[in-house]
Amino acid sequence: MGGGNYFQTKIGRDSQGWIVWDKENGENRFADCELAWTSFNRATHIFRFRWSGMLQGDMAHKEDRIHPTQKPAALYRWVYSHYAQPGNKILDTHLGSGSSRIAAYDAGLDFWGYEIDATYFALQEARFAQHTAQFSLFSDQKGAESTNCEKCQYHTKDGRCTYMIGCPYNSRK
Ligand SMILES: C[S@@+](CC[C@H](N)C(=O)[O-])C[C@H]1O[C@@H](n2cnc3c(N)ncnc32)[C@H](O)[C@@H]1O
Repeated sequence: MGGGNYFQTKIGRDSQGWIVWDKENGENRFADCELAWTSFNRATHIFRFRWSGMLQGDMAHKEDRIHPTQKPAALYRWVYSHYAQPGNKILDTHLGSGSSRIAAYDAGLDFWGYEIDATYFALQEARFAQHTAQFSLFSDQKGAESTNCEKCQYHTKDGRCTYMIGCPYNSRK
């Protein structure tokens, strides 16, 4: 549960397995980190990924910002790769920008999402469509400059996969 520190008393259950997202946003008035509560009986872990104004942790794959509280798809990729299992179904009741949906798609996980705001819903639909079109395009570009990952079917120019759960090329484990 993202933002778990805002409604800690309502959760009614202690956890040692919080997730900390360090936004690496330097010295300013904004929060350094975001906290997500989990029910996992494991240690608290940190994901470090810059998300500060124009600066993003992966500038080579900069994400369009379409929502005021948008989180990076990279954050959800990390969460899924550490906390989900192949075959899991992901539910996001507050979809917003659809980053969770994009990451689930990349990871091959089933996904349900709900968004009450029609404008945000339409924006995330367009973002998702653009992402899946790019994904298909890259998947069609098997060849000399790229190496296909046989496990997840995603590939990068240098042959490393940085997205997939259980992928032997996944460097974010
Ligand atoms: C904090 S934002 C989510 C941001 C999201 N995690 C992201 O990465 O973009 C919360 C979203 O939930 C939507 N929302 C609020 N109440 C809702 C409800 N009852 N059902 C579905 N969506 C809701 C808001 O319109 C808003 O887009």
